Amino acid sequence: MSSGHTANGCLSGWLLTTLGIMISDAHSSAPVRVGLLGCGNVGGALAALLAEGGDGLFARTGLRLELTRVAVRNTAKSRGPDVPEHLLTNDAASVVAADDVDVVVELIGGIEPARSLILDALKAGKPVVTANKELVADLGDELFQAAGAAGVDLLFEAAVAGGIPIMRPLRESLAGERLTRIMGIVNGTTNYILTKMEAGEAYGEALAEAQSLGFAERDPTADVEGFDAAAKAAIIATLAFGQKVVSGDVAREGISSLTPADFAFARRMGFVIKLLAVVERHEDESVSARVHPSLVPLDHPLASVRDSFNAVFVEGEAVGELMFFGRGAGGRPTASAVLGDLLDAAHSLRGGAPGRLPQPGRARIRAFEEMASPYYVSLLVNDEPGVLATVAGVFGRHGVSIRSMEQEGAPGGDARIDFITHTATERDVQATLAELRELEVVDAIGGLIRVVA
Ligand SMILES: NC(=O)c1ccc[n+]([C@@H]2O[C@H](COP(=O)([O-])OP(=O)(O)OC[C@H]3O[C@@H](n4cnc5c(N)ncnc54)[C@H](OP(=O)(O)O)[C@@H]3O)[C@@H](O)[C@H]2O)c1
Repeated sequence: MSSGHTANGCLSGWLLTTLGIMISDAHSSAPVRVGLLGCGNVGGALAALLAEGGDGLFARTGLRLELTRVAVRNTAKSRGPDVPEHLLTNDAASVVAADDVDVVVELIGGIEPARSLILDALKAGKPVVTANKELVADLGDELFQAAGAAGVDLLFEAAVAGGIPIMRPLRESLAGERLTRIMGIVNGTTNYILTKMEAGEAYGEALAEAQSLGFAERDPTADVEGFDAAAKAAIIATLAFGQKVVSGDVAREGISSLTPADFAFARRMGFVIKLLAVVERHEDESVSARVHPSLVPLDHPLASVRDSFNAVFVEGEAVGELMFFGRGAGGRPTASAVLGDLLDAAHSLRGGAPGRLPQPGRARIRAFEEMASPYYVSLLVNDEPGVLATVAGVFGRHGVSIRSMEQEGAPGGDARIDFITHTATERDVQATLAELRELEVVDAIGGLIRVVA
Protein backbone atom coordinates (compact mmCIF):
# COMPACT_ATOMS: atom_id res chain seq x y z
CA MET A 1 0.00 0.00 0.00
CA SER A 2 2.58 2.40 1.03
CA SER A 3 4.86 1.38 -1.87
CA GLY A 4 1.88 1.67 -4.26
CA HIS A 5 1.22 5.09 -2.87
CA THR A 6 4.84 5.96 -3.42
CA ALA A 7 4.64 4.57 -6.98
CA ASN A 8 1.53 6.66 -7.61
CA GLY A 9 3.23 9.67 -6.09
CA CYS A 10 6.21 9.08 -8.39
CA LEU A 11 3.93 8.68 -11.37
CA SER A 12 1.98 11.82 -10.68
CA GLY A 13 5.25 13.64 -9.95
CA TRP A 14 6.64 12.39 -13.26
CA LEU A 15 3.45 13.43 -15.04
CA LEU A 16 3.51 16.85 -13.46
CA THR A 17 7.18 17.31 -14.27
CA THR A 18 6.68 16.17 -17.87
CA LEU A 19 3.63 18.38 -18.21
CA GLY A 20 5.60 21.22 -16.71
CA ILE A 21 8.37 20.73 -19.27
CA MET A 22 5.81 20.55 -22.06
CA ILE A 23 4.09 23.70 -20.85
CA SER A 24 7.31 25.61 -20.42
CA ASP A 25 8.52 24.33 -23.83
CA ALA A 26 5.31 25.45 -25.43
CA HIS A 27 5.72 28.78 -23.72
CA SER A 28 9.33 29.35 -24.68
CA SER A 29 8.86 28.11 -28.24
CA ALA A 30 5.96 30.52 -28.87
CA PRO A 31 7.65 33.12 -31.04
CA VAL A 32 8.33 36.64 -29.87
CA ARG A 33 6.73 38.77 -32.57
CA VAL A 34 8.84 41.54 -34.05
CA GLY A 35 7.56 44.77 -35.61
CA LEU A 36 10.25 46.35 -37.79
CA LEU A 37 10.23 50.10 -38.49
CA GLY A 38 12.46 50.71 -41.53
CA CYS A 39 13.74 48.09 -43.94
CA GLY A 40 16.78 49.70 -45.56
CA ASN A 41 20.44 48.67 -45.18
CA VAL A 42 20.15 47.50 -41.58
CA GLY A 43 16.44 46.57 -41.49
CA GLY A 44 16.77 44.46 -44.65
CA ALA A 45 19.83 42.67 -43.24
CA LEU A 46 17.98 42.07 -39.96
CA ALA A 47 15.04 40.50 -41.84
CA ALA A 48 17.55 38.18 -43.56
CA LEU A 49 19.20 37.22 -40.24
CA LEU A 50 15.77 36.47 -38.74
CA ALA A 51 14.87 34.30 -41.73
CA GLU A 52 18.22 32.46 -41.53
CA GLY A 53 18.04 32.11 -37.73
CA GLY A 54 15.12 29.69 -37.34
CA ASP A 55 15.86 26.43 -35.51
CA GLY A 56 19.56 27.25 -35.03
CA LEU A 57 18.67 30.41 -33.14
CA PHE A 58 16.14 28.46 -31.08
CA ALA A 59 18.71 25.76 -30.27
CA ARG A 60 21.24 28.38 -29.12
CA THR A 61 18.89 30.69 -27.25
CA GLY A 62 15.63 28.86 -26.56
CA LEU A 63 13.85 31.74 -28.26
CA ARG A 64 12.00 32.07 -31.53
CA LEU A 65 11.64 35.43 -33.23
CA GLU A 66 9.00 36.03 -35.89
CA LEU A 67 8.82 39.09 -38.13
CA THR A 68 5.14 40.02 -38.19
CA ARG A 69 5.03 43.60 -39.54
CA VAL A 70 7.38 45.89 -41.44
CA ALA A 71 6.96 49.66 -41.92
CA VAL A 72 8.66 51.40 -44.84
CA ARG A 73 8.13 54.62 -46.78
CA ASN A 74 7.59 52.95 -50.14
CA THR A 75 5.51 49.75 -50.00
CA ALA A 76 5.73 49.28 -53.79
CA LYS A 77 9.47 48.51 -53.60
CA SER A 78 10.25 44.77 -53.35
CA ARG A 79 12.21 43.84 -50.21
CA GLY A 80 13.24 40.36 -51.35
CA PRO A 81 12.17 36.91 -50.14
CA ASP A 82 12.80 37.60 -46.43
CA VAL A 83 10.11 40.29 -46.29
CA PRO A 84 6.85 39.02 -47.82
CA GLU A 85 4.76 41.81 -49.33
CA HIS A 86 1.82 41.21 -46.98
CA LEU A 87 3.97 42.30 -43.99
CA LEU A 88 4.61 45.77 -45.46
CA THR A 89 2.85 48.99 -44.54
CA ASN A 90 3.70 52.66 -44.70
CA ASP A 91 1.80 53.30 -41.48
CA ALA A 92 4.58 52.91 -38.88
CA ALA A 93 2.24 53.81 -35.98
CA SER A 94 0.02 50.83 -36.84
CA VAL A 95 3.02 48.49 -36.44
CA VAL A 96 3.75 49.91 -32.99
CA ALA A 97 0.12 49.49 -31.92
CA ALA A 98 -0.50 46.05 -33.45
CA ASP A 99 -1.53 43.19 -31.14
CA ASP A 100 0.75 40.81 -33.02
CA VAL A 101 3.86 42.89 -32.28
CA ASP A 102 5.65 42.16 -28.97
CA VAL A 103 8.93 44.01 -29.65
CA VAL A 104 9.55 47.08 -31.82
CA VAL A 105 12.80 47.57 -33.77
CA GLU A 106 13.37 51.17 -34.94
CA LEU A 107 15.67 51.35 -37.98
CA ILE A 108 14.29 54.47 -39.67
CA GLY A 109 16.93 56.85 -38.30
CA GLY A 110 16.71 60.61 -37.60
CA ILE A 111 14.70 62.28 -34.87
CA GLU A 112 11.07 62.26 -36.02
CA PRO A 113 9.01 60.15 -36.47
CA ALA A 114 11.48 57.73 -34.81
CA ARG A 115 11.25 59.47 -31.41
CA SER A 116 7.43 59.47 -31.23
CA LEU A 117 7.19 55.89 -32.45
CA ILE A 118 9.67 54.69 -29.81
CA LEU A 119 7.89 56.60 -27.05
CA ASP A 120 4.51 55.15 -28.12
CA ALA A 121 5.94 51.63 -28.12
CA LEU A 122 7.45 52.05 -24.66
CA LYS A 123 4.23 53.54 -23.28
CA ALA A 124 2.40 50.51 -24.65
CA GLY A 125 4.80 48.30 -22.64
CA LYS A 126 6.70 47.05 -25.69
CA PRO A 127 10.48 46.78 -25.54
CA VAL A 128 12.34 48.75 -28.21
CA VAL A 129 15.59 48.09 -30.02
CA THR A 130 17.14 50.93 -32.02
CA ALA A 131 20.39 51.73 -33.87
CA ASN A 132 19.65 55.47 -33.88
CA LYS A 133 22.73 57.28 -32.49
CA GLU A 134 21.33 60.79 -33.02
CA LEU A 135 18.26 60.00 -30.99
CA VAL A 136 20.05 58.17 -28.18
CA ALA A 137 22.80 60.82 -27.95
CA ASP A 138 20.51 63.81 -27.71
CA LEU A 139 17.14 62.57 -26.47
CA GLY A 140 18.28 59.43 -24.67
CA ASP A 141 17.14 60.82 -21.33
CA GLU A 142 13.51 61.08 -22.39
CA LEU A 143 13.62 57.58 -23.87
CA PHE A 144 15.40 56.01 -20.87
CA GLN A 145 12.80 57.52 -18.54
CA ALA A 146 9.90 56.24 -20.64
CA ALA A 147 11.47 52.75 -20.70
CA GLY A 148 12.12 52.89 -16.96
CA ALA A 149 8.52 53.98 -16.25
CA ALA A 150 7.15 51.15 -18.40
CA GLY A 151 9.63 48.62 -16.97
CA VAL A 152 10.68 47.42 -20.43
CA ASP A 153 13.96 47.25 -22.35
CA LEU A 154 15.30 50.02 -24.55
CA LEU A 155 18.42 48.63 -26.20
CA PHE A 156 20.78 50.41 -28.60
CA GLU A 157 23.92 48.30 -29.04
CA ALA A 158 24.16 49.15 -32.75
CA ALA A 159 24.06 52.92 -32.20
CA VAL A 160 27.80 52.99 -31.47
CA ALA A 161 30.40 51.15 -33.53
CA GLY A 162 27.83 49.12 -35.53
CA GLY A 163 28.59 45.43 -35.13
CA ILE A 164 31.01 45.78 -32.19
CA PRO A 165 29.41 44.85 -28.88
CA ILE A 166 30.44 47.80 -26.70
CA MET A 167 27.21 49.12 -25.13
CA ARG A 168 26.45 45.89 -23.27
CA PRO A 169 30.00 45.51 -21.87
CA LEU A 170 29.89 49.13 -20.68
CA ARG A 171 26.43 48.72 -19.19
CA GLU A 172 26.83 45.26 -17.70
CA SER A 173 30.26 43.57 -17.69
CA LEU A 174 32.05 46.77 -16.68
CA ALA A 175 29.27 48.19 -14.48
CA GLY A 176 31.40 47.76 -11.35
CA GLU A 177 34.53 49.19 -12.89
CA ARG A 178 35.73 52.74 -12.40
CA LEU A 179 36.42 53.62 -16.02
CA THR A 180 38.83 56.50 -16.54
CA ARG A 181 39.23 56.98 -20.28
CA ILE A 182 37.75 55.56 -23.45
CA MET A 183 39.22 56.28 -26.88
CA GLY A 184 37.38 55.14 -29.97
CA ILE A 185 37.79 55.03 -33.70
CA VAL A 186 34.04 55.12 -34.16
CA ASN A 187 33.64 56.46 -37.70
CA GLY A 188 34.61 54.05 -40.46
CA THR A 189 34.41 56.64 -43.25
CA THR A 190 37.05 58.90 -41.75
CA ASN A 191 39.24 55.95 -40.79
CA TYR A 192 39.12 54.78 -44.40
CA ILE A 193 40.09 58.28 -45.65
CA LEU A 194 42.92 58.57 -43.10
CA THR A 195 44.26 55.13 -44.07
CA LYS A 196 44.42 56.29 -47.71
CA MET A 197 46.10 59.57 -46.71
CA GLU A 198 48.66 57.61 -44.73
CA ALA A 199 49.49 55.80 -47.97
CA GLY A 200 50.12 59.16 -49.68
CA GLU A 201 46.76 60.28 -51.09
CA ALA A 202 45.58 63.87 -50.66
CA TYR A 203 42.40 64.49 -48.64
CA GLY A 204 40.20 65.28 -51.69
CA GLU A 205 41.36 62.19 -53.54
CA ALA A 206 40.78 59.88 -50.55
CA LEU A 207 37.33 61.38 -49.93
CA ALA A 208 36.33 60.94 -53.59
CA GLU A 209 37.40 57.29 -53.43
CA ALA A 210 35.39 56.73 -50.22
CA GLN A 211 32.36 58.31 -51.93
CA SER A 212 32.72 56.17 -55.05
CA LEU A 213 32.85 53.03 -52.87
CA GLY A 214 29.74 54.11 -50.95
CA PHE A 215 31.62 54.57 -47.64
CA ALA A 216 31.04 58.32 -47.63
CA GLU A 217 27.82 60.26 -48.29
CA ARG A 218 27.62 62.81 -51.09
CA ASP A 219 27.53 65.43 -48.33
CA PRO A 220 30.25 64.01 -46.07
CA THR A 221 30.05 66.75 -43.40
CA ALA A 222 28.62 64.58 -40.61
CA ASP A 223 31.52 62.16 -40.94
CA VAL A 224 34.52 64.31 -41.88
CA GLU A 225 33.72 67.15 -39.48
CA GLY A 226 33.28 64.72 -36.57
CA PHE A 227 29.52 65.18 -35.86
CA ASP A 228 28.81 61.45 -36.14
CA ALA A 229 31.72 60.57 -33.85
CA ALA A 230 30.63 63.29 -31.38
CA ALA A 231 27.15 61.72 -31.02
CA LYS A 232 28.79 58.35 -30.34
CA ALA A 233 31.24 59.92 -27.85
CA ALA A 234 28.25 61.35 -25.95
CA ILE A 235 26.59 57.93 -25.72
CA ILE A 236 29.83 56.23 -24.63
CA ALA A 237 30.51 58.86 -21.94
CA THR A 238 26.95 58.63 -20.59
CA LEU A 239 27.13 54.85 -20.26
CA ALA A 240 30.73 54.65 -19.09
CA PHE A 241 30.60 57.37 -16.45
CA GLY A 242 26.89 57.30 -15.52
CA GLN A 243 26.65 61.03 -16.18
CA LYS A 244 24.56 62.52 -18.94
CA VAL A 245 26.63 63.90 -21.82
CA VAL A 246 25.01 65.16 -25.05
CA SER A 247 26.51 65.82 -28.50
CA GLY A 248 26.73 69.56 -27.79
CA ASP A 249 29.10 68.84 -24.85
CA VAL A 250 31.63 67.22 -27.16
CA ALA A 251 34.46 69.46 -28.43
CA ARG A 252 34.84 68.63 -32.09
CA GLU A 253 37.34 69.03 -34.89
CA GLY A 254 37.27 67.13 -38.20
CA ILE A 255 39.88 65.78 -40.59
CA SER A 256 39.42 68.08 -43.60
CA SER A 257 42.40 70.35 -42.83
CA LEU A 258 44.97 67.53 -42.51
CA THR A 259 47.72 67.72 -45.13
CA PRO A 260 50.16 65.21 -46.67
CA ALA A 261 52.93 67.00 -44.72
CA ASP A 262 51.19 66.09 -41.42
CA PHE A 263 51.18 62.42 -42.46
CA ALA A 264 54.79 62.52 -43.58
CA PHE A 265 55.81 64.02 -40.23
CA ALA A 266 53.73 61.47 -38.32
CA ARG A 267 55.37 58.64 -40.22
CA ARG A 268 58.89 59.94 -39.54
CA MET A 269 58.14 60.36 -35.84
CA GLY A 270 56.53 56.92 -35.37
CA PHE A 271 52.84 57.88 -35.30
CA VAL A 272 49.68 57.39 -37.35
CA ILE A 273 46.89 59.95 -37.51
CA LYS A 274 43.44 58.77 -36.36
CA LEU A 275 40.18 60.59 -35.72
CA LEU A 276 39.59 59.70 -32.07
CA ALA A 277 36.56 60.17 -29.86
CA VAL A 278 38.05 60.57 -26.39
CA VAL A 279 35.99 60.63 -23.19
CA GLU A 280 37.66 60.98 -19.80
CA ARG A 281 36.60 61.03 -16.18
CA HIS A 282 38.87 63.29 -14.15
CA GLU A 283 39.79 63.03 -10.47
CA ASP A 284 37.33 65.79 -9.53
CA GLU A 285 34.60 63.66 -11.27
CA SER A 286 34.24 66.15 -14.12
CA VAL A 287 34.00 64.63 -17.59
CA SER A 288 35.57 65.67 -20.85
CA ALA A 289 34.50 64.54 -24.29
CA ARG A 290 36.15 65.46 -27.56
CA VAL A 291 36.60 64.34 -31.13
CA HIS A 292 39.68 65.36 -33.09
CA PRO A 293 42.52 63.98 -35.18
CA SER A 294 45.18 62.48 -32.92
CA LEU A 295 48.73 61.27 -33.33
CA VAL A 296 48.68 57.66 -32.16
CA PRO A 297 52.03 55.99 -31.42
CA LEU A 298 52.64 53.04 -33.76
CA ASP A 299 52.86 50.61 -30.84
CA HIS A 300 49.41 51.59 -29.51
CA PRO A 301 46.67 49.01 -30.35
CA LEU A 302 44.53 51.73 -31.98
CA ALA A 303 47.30 52.42 -34.53
CA SER A 304 46.65 49.09 -36.26
CA VAL A 305 42.94 49.82 -36.87
CA ARG A 306 42.81 50.50 -40.60
CA ASP A 307 40.36 51.06 -43.45
CA SER A 308 36.72 51.23 -42.40
CA PHE A 309 37.20 49.20 -39.19
CA ASN A 310 36.27 50.61 -35.80
CA ALA A 311 37.74 50.01 -32.36
CA VAL A 312 37.05 51.14 -28.83
CA PHE A 313 39.91 51.20 -26.32
CA VAL A 314 38.72 51.17 -22.71
CA GLU A 315 40.82 52.00 -19.64
CA GLY A 316 39.64 51.17 -16.13
CA GLU A 317 41.24 51.27 -12.71
CA ALA A 318 40.94 47.54 -11.98
CA VAL A 319 40.54 45.99 -15.41
CA GLY A 320 43.41 47.88 -17.04
CA GLU A 321 43.18 48.18 -20.83
CA LEU A 322 40.67 46.47 -23.13
CA MET A 323 40.10 46.85 -26.84
CA PHE A 324 36.98 46.01 -28.86
CA PHE A 325 37.58 45.79 -32.61
CA GLY A 326 35.40 45.07 -35.61
CA ARG A 327 33.06 46.36 -38.31
CA GLY A 328 31.54 49.65 -37.24
CA ALA A 329 28.95 49.83 -40.01
CA GLY A 330 27.37 47.92 -42.86
CA GLY A 331 23.99 46.23 -43.01
CA ARG A 332 24.86 42.75 -41.71
CA PRO A 333 27.35 43.67 -38.95
CA THR A 334 24.95 46.32 -37.64
CA ALA A 335 21.98 43.95 -37.93
CA SER A 336 23.96 41.38 -35.93
CA ALA A 337 24.16 43.85 -33.02
CA VAL A 338 20.43 44.59 -33.39
CA LEU A 339 19.66 40.87 -33.31
CA GLY A 340 21.65 40.50 -30.07
CA ASP A 341 19.51 43.24 -28.55
CA LEU A 342 16.34 41.65 -29.88
CA LEU A 343 17.22 38.37 -28.17
CA ASP A 344 17.86 40.23 -24.92
CA ALA A 345 14.51 41.98 -25.18
CA ALA A 346 12.79 38.69 -26.03
CA HIS A 347 14.43 37.04 -23.04
CA SER A 348 13.11 39.82 -20.75
CA LEU A 349 9.65 39.35 -22.22
CA ARG A 350 9.85 35.63 -21.45
CA GLY A 351 10.39 36.34 -17.79
CA GLY A 352 13.90 37.72 -17.41
CA ALA A 353 14.38 41.17 -15.91
CA PRO A 354 14.81 44.13 -18.27
CA GLY A 355 18.37 45.45 -18.52
CA ARG A 356 19.51 48.34 -16.37
CA LEU A 357 19.20 51.73 -18.03
CA PRO A 358 21.17 54.79 -17.11
CA GLN A 359 19.16 57.46 -15.29
CA PRO A 360 22.07 59.82 -14.99
CA GLY A 361 22.32 63.34 -13.69
CA ARG A 362 23.87 65.96 -15.94
CA ALA A 363 27.64 65.60 -16.25
CA ARG A 364 29.92 68.40 -15.10
CA ILE A 365 31.77 69.00 -18.34
CA ARG A 366 35.38 70.08 -18.05
CA ALA A 367 36.11 73.07 -20.31
CA PHE A 368 38.03 72.12 -23.45
CA GLU A 369 40.71 74.73 -22.59
CA GLU A 370 41.56 72.64 -19.51
CA MET A 371 42.28 69.54 -21.59
CA ALA A 372 45.91 68.49 -21.38
CA SER A 373 47.98 66.38 -23.76
CA PRO A 374 51.18 66.58 -25.75
CA TYR A 375 50.72 68.46 -29.04
CA TYR A 376 52.15 68.40 -32.50
CA VAL A 377 52.46 71.96 -33.86
CA SER A 378 53.67 72.76 -37.35
CA LEU A 379 54.78 76.24 -38.44
CA LEU A 380 55.80 77.79 -41.74
CA VAL A 381 58.41 80.44 -40.94
CA ASN A 382 60.89 82.68 -42.77
CA ASP A 383 64.06 80.68 -43.30
CA GLU A 384 66.49 83.10 -41.60
CA PRO A 385 68.83 83.12 -38.60
CA GLY A 386 67.31 83.62 -35.16
CA VAL A 387 63.77 82.57 -36.10
CA LEU A 388 63.93 79.29 -34.21
CA ALA A 389 65.05 81.05 -31.01
CA THR A 390 62.23 83.62 -31.35
CA VAL A 391 59.62 80.91 -31.86
CA ALA A 392 60.97 78.74 -29.02
CA GLY A 393 60.81 81.80 -26.76
CA VAL A 394 57.05 82.13 -27.40
CA PHE A 395 56.46 78.49 -26.42
CA GLY A 396 58.52 79.04 -23.27
CA ARG A 397 56.64 82.21 -22.28
CA HIS A 398 53.38 80.25 -22.20
CA GLY A 399 54.85 77.35 -20.24
CA VAL A 400 54.68 74.95 -23.20
CA SER A 401 57.82 72.87 -23.18
CA ILE A 402 59.16 71.33 -26.39
CA ARG A 403 59.90 67.59 -26.49
CA SER A 404 61.23 67.32 -30.05
CA MET A 405 61.65 69.50 -33.08
CA GLU A 406 62.36 69.01 -36.77
CA GLN A 407 63.10 71.65 -39.41
CA GLU A 408 63.12 71.34 -43.18
CA GLY A 409 63.14 73.67 -46.16
CA ALA A 410 59.79 74.63 -47.70
CA PRO A 411 58.97 76.28 -51.04
CA GLY A 412 59.32 80.11 -51.37
CA GLY A 413 62.25 80.59 -48.99
CA ASP A 414 60.22 79.34 -46.04
CA ALA A 415 61.10 76.65 -43.55
CA ARG A 416 58.69 74.21 -41.95
CA ILE A 417 59.28 73.57 -38.26
CA ASP A 418 57.42 70.70 -36.61
CA PHE A 419 57.30 70.52 -32.83
CA ILE A 420 56.08 67.89 -30.40
CA THR A 421 55.46 69.38 -26.99
CA HIS A 422 55.39 67.84 -23.55
CA THR A 423 51.93 67.68 -21.97
CA ALA A 424 50.36 71.14 -22.02
CA THR A 425 46.86 72.53 -21.64
CA GLU A 426 44.77 73.55 -24.64
CA ARG A 427 44.61 77.06 -23.14
CA ASP A 428 48.41 77.45 -23.07
CA VAL A 429 48.87 75.99 -26.52
CA GLN A 430 46.19 78.26 -28.01
CA ALA A 431 47.79 81.29 -26.31
CA THR A 432 51.13 80.23 -27.82
CA LEU A 433 49.60 79.98 -31.29
CA ALA A 434 47.88 83.36 -30.92
CA GLU A 435 51.22 85.03 -30.15
CA LEU A 436 53.01 83.12 -32.92
CA ARG A 437 50.44 84.30 -35.46
CA GLU A 438 51.37 87.89 -34.62
CA LEU A 439 55.06 87.34 -35.41
CA GLU A 440 56.25 88.64 -38.77
CA VAL A 441 58.60 85.70 -39.21
CA VAL A 442 55.71 83.19 -38.91
CA ASP A 443 53.89 82.83 -42.24
CA ALA A 444 51.34 80.22 -41.19
CA ILE A 445 50.40 77.70 -38.55
CA GLY A 446 50.54 74.52 -40.60
CA GLY A 447 48.87 72.09 -38.23
CA LEU A 448 47.90 71.36 -34.65
CA ILE A 449 47.24 67.77 -33.63
CA ARG A 450 46.87 66.31 -30.13
CA VAL A 451 49.12 63.38 -29.32
CA VAL A 452 47.85 60.29 -27.49
CA ALA A 453 49.79 59.87 -24.25
N1 LIG B 1 23.90 51.60 -42.27
C1 LIG B 1 24.77 51.39 -41.31
O1 LIG B 1 25.86 50.85 -41.52
C2 LIG B 1 24.43 51.78 -39.89
C3 LIG B 1 25.36 51.52 -38.86
C4 LIG B 1 25.03 51.86 -37.54
C5 LIG B 1 23.80 52.43 -37.28
N2 LIG B 1 22.93 52.69 -38.30
C6 LIG B 1 21.65 53.30 -37.98
O2 LIG B 1 20.60 52.41 -38.36
C7 LIG B 1 19.45 53.17 -38.74
C8 LIG B 1 19.00 52.72 -40.12
O3 LIG B 1 20.05 52.96 -41.04
P1 LIG B 1 19.99 52.40 -42.54
O4 LIG B 1 21.36 52.59 -43.10
O5 LIG B 1 19.37 51.07 -42.58
O6 LIG B 1 18.99 53.46 -43.21
P2 LIG B 1 18.26 53.37 -44.62
O7 LIG B 1 18.93 52.37 -45.50
O8 LIG B 1 18.13 54.76 -45.12
O9 LIG B 1 16.82 52.80 -44.26
C9 LIG B 1 15.83 53.56 -43.65
C10 LIG B 1 14.50 52.81 -43.75
O10 LIG B 1 13.50 53.57 -43.06
C11 LIG B 1 12.33 53.65 -43.89
N3 LIG B 1 11.59 54.87 -43.55
C12 LIG B 1 12.00 56.15 -43.64
N4 LIG B 1 11.06 56.98 -43.18
C13 LIG B 1 10.03 56.21 -42.78
C14 LIG B 1 8.75 56.45 -42.21
N5 LIG B 1 8.33 57.70 -41.96
N6 LIG B 1 7.94 55.40 -41.94
C15 LIG B 1 8.35 54.13 -42.20
N7 LIG B 1 9.55 53.83 -42.73
C16 LIG B 1 10.36 54.85 -43.02
C17 LIG B 1 12.85 53.64 -45.30
O11 LIG B 1 11.83 53.24 -46.19
P3 LIG B 1 12.09 53.08 -47.78
O12 LIG B 1 12.98 51.89 -47.90
O13 LIG B 1 10.75 52.86 -48.35
O14 LIG B 1 12.75 54.35 -48.20
C18 LIG B 1 14.00 52.63 -45.18
O15 LIG B 1 13.50 51.33 -45.35
C19 LIG B 1 19.85 54.64 -38.63
O16 LIG B 1 19.49 55.14 -37.37
C20 LIG B 1 21.37 54.58 -38.74
O17 LIG B 1 22.02 55.68 -38.13
C21 LIG B 1 23.21 52.37 -39.59
